[in-house]
Parts: sequence; C-alpha cells; structure tokens
Amino acid sequence: MKDDLIAIDNLSVRYELHGSTFSGRRTYVNALNGITLNVRKGETLAIVGESGSGKSTLAMTVLGLLRHWTGTISYNFSEKELTSAKERKLRRAELLEIWRRSSIVFQDPYSALDSKKLVKDIITEPYLGHRLGARSESQLLASELIMQVGLTEDHLGYYPDQLSGGQRQRIAVARSLINRPELVIFDEPTSSLDVSIQAQILNLILDLKEKLSLTYIFITHNLVVAKHVSDRMMVLYLGNVMEIGETDSVFNNPLHPYTKLLISSVPLPKADYEMKQRESREAEVSSITLPGGCVFHPRCPVATSYCGWKSDEVLQLIRREAYLLLGIEELDAEMHGDLSFTVTAGDEETARKLLDVVREKDRFKIADAQLSGNSISFTLFESWKPSLLSSGGRAVNCLLYDVEFMTAHGLKQDGS
Ligand SMILES: Nc1ncnc2c1ncn2[C@@H]1O[C@H](COP(=O)(O)OP(=O)(O)O)[C@@H](O)[C@H]1O
Ligand code: SF4
Ligand SMILES: [Mg+2]
Repeated sequence: MKDDLIAIDNLSVRYELHGSTFSGRRTYVNALNGITLNVRKGETLAIVGESGSGKSTLAMTVLGLLRHWTGTISYNFSEKELTSAKERKLRRAELLEIWRRSSIVFQDPYSALDSKKLVKDIITEPYLGHRLGARSESQLLASELIMQVGLTEDHLGYYPDQLSGGQRQRIAVARSLINRPELVIFDEPTSSLDVSIQAQILNLILDLKEKLSLTYIFITHNLVVAKHVSDRMMVLYLGNVMEIGETDSVFNNPLHPYTKLLISSVPLPKADYEMKQRESREAEVSSITLPGGCVFHPRCPVATSYCGWKSDEVLQLIRREAYLLLGIEELDAEMHGDLSFTVTAGDEETARKLLDVVREKDRFKIADAQLSGNSISFTLFESWKPSLLSSGGRAVNCLLYDVEFMTAHGLKQDGS
C-alpha cells in the first residue's frame, strides 16, 4: 500500500431496479463485479470501457458517494490512512476526509455547473462547504486557480451561461482543485466538447497534474484519449476488469481478446441474445443477467468451449444457422438444464444435415451430439470462470492466459 494512494479489493456494486420485479423477485443491475485494483501515487490511471461498463459507478464508490457495495477500499492519503469496508461503514468524519482529499470533474460542464451562481462562487463552494478556511482565503485561491486553468480574473464575475463549453470545463477543473486534493477523478471530461477544444483541455489537465503532484483516475471510452493521458490503463467490461497494465505495453501488445478488439477498432460483434434483450429492455439488461463463465464470451471471437456457453445461447446460434444455411424457420427444442437440450427437425434427413452444419460451425461449443430419428440431443462443456491473473505488471482476465486451464484442456492460445 505504501506506493498506492488507493487499494480496492473485490469491490462489487449492484443497483436495485425499482418497479421491475419479475414474479415478486427483486431485480438488480450488477454494475461492478469483484473489482481489484490499485491506484499508485502520482500516476494517471485510465479506466476504459463502453457505456454501461461501470466506470462512473467505480468513481462514485471510490469517492464515498454510494452507500451499498461490498469489498474493501483503502485510502492512503498523506495525513490519514482510511479503510472503508462492507463490514465497517465509514463515519461521517471519515467520509469528509475523503471528500477533502479527492474531487471529481464530470463529463458535462453544462449540467455540472450551477447556472445561477457566479463563477467565483462555483469555484469556492467546495472550499467553504468543507470549512477549509475563511471566505477571503477562498477568493484568493479562486483568483490563483482561474489563472492556472488559463482564464482571467474577469471570468470570476461571469455566469456559466456566458462561457463556452471549453471555458466551463476549465472552471470545473479549477473548482476540483480548490480543496487541494491528492486524487482527482475525471469522468469523460472532454467527451461533450468540440474536438478542437478537447486537446487543449487534456493538455491543461496534464500540466496541472505535474505542477500540483496529483494522482488521477481518468475515465474515458476513447482509447486515443486514454493513450494520450495515462500511465496505466484498466479495461472494464460489464463491471469486470478485463486487463490492466502500463498503457504503452497494453497498446503495443494487447492480450485480452476484448482489448484487442477495442484497439484494432474493428466493430465489436454483438451477441444475438444480447441484441434481442437490448431491443426489448434497454441497454443495461446485460448487466442484469450477466453471461455465465467469462462475461465476454458471447462476443469473443476466440471463445473456447469452456468459456460459459449455456443451452439457450447455443440453441439460438443453432436456430440461426438452421435458418441461414438450411432454410429451417422453426426448430422445436426441449431444454434439459444449462448444459443439455434436444432439438427436433421435420425429418431424419433434415436432422442429419443440421447436425453436420452444427458440427462444422459450433463444434467447439458442443461436448456431445447424439442423433436419434429426427431429434438431436446436445451436451455442452462445463464452463470455467476466468480470473484476473497477474504477470510482469500485466493482469489479464481470460482463460487463454491461464496456464493451468490451458494445459488441463490441451488447448493452444488460438483456441484450437
Ligand atoms: N442509479 C442507478 N440505478 C440503476 N442502474 C444504474 C444506476 N446507475 C447506473 N446503473 C447501471 O449500472 C451499470 C453501470 O453504469 P455506469 O457506472 O454509469 O457505467 P458507465 O459509466 O461505464 O457508462 C449500467 O448498466 C447502468 O445502467
Ligand atoms: S475467457 Fe478469454 S477466450 Fe474465453 S470468452 Fe473470455 S475472453 Fe474469450
Ligand atoms: Mg459514466
């Protein structure tokens, strides 16, 4: 912990969805699922992931703004060490300590700044709110900070509406620094700005980090931005860490299949069932019913037989192939649990052709297939859940890098 400002161990957060109970059961969004992560003093750690992957939830939890979570978060601020754990809720005084030592800059400078307040009051508010000193001191600091963010003292007398998007984000940065934080979290700070202004704001943020010896957590869905600003990066997918490492090394040699796809900027394949769910119940559905095994398996181009396939997923793939390759519109099926199901075709000849197609296309997901008349009984492999394994400063959450698993199954890294 000595070199770390923050150490997060096995952090999970779920949100209860109100008004959406199925058969009387509560429904939850699993926003973060067992995150383990350290933030080193003085670094910029980028957190990269698609919308809904849990980036903002992670920021809010670290800042002590969410009440319900499990795991442990330890803070190693220069004057005080704090540990916040499920079993021990932080007292108000400890939360105040976290809010004094850290701050956040949000994505949208339009909604983040109170349009009825003058810029000087917006900047000084956290200072006065945390009772860090007298009003006169806060004014002096605001004058200093407004210049540090590249504006003039005149801007202190403006209202946010009188400023451009870039200027407002500079104000948000100044406000985030008035409590002299050790940690600043930027949550997509340039996503809502014009491309021409983004680089200026990023460079300002980087300059301030050097001048003020800060530690940054920088949240972005934009890999180019992550590459530009960060020392290390963490890739998040459906609330799970996929990969962590030095930014240069991750870009030069991405290991996790998801990171490889993100970096190659190839459009990500969508899982069929995921799309169906999204059509019917909005984007967060996939965090409600997380895929089993590896959460990435429905979209992974190199998934193995053991990566988490379940009967309903494989049946859907088989139905699609039956339709596309054999023109079969309806295929009766009977499920026998997560790993076994039977499909029934119109006649024996069709069932035989279907089995040939499945063996060719989906071979790796099928442990066994038995043809009996016009029915085929399929059995799938037991799934393995990958864990985040570290080696040489990199950590990857993929079975292909789990030597024990690969050896036990006689697999090579290309999935063969
Ligand atoms: N207050 C909330 N209530 C219910 N679900 C939420 C709430 N906030 C976020 N979520 C869900 O949690 C998941 C993670 O969200 P979020 O942390 O905002 O992701 P990101 O910042 O990466 O877009 C998403 O599925 C999102 O819809
Ligand atoms: S464990 Fe690795 S190979 Fe398997 S689905 Fe996940 S990312 Fe793909
Ligand atoms: Mg977000």
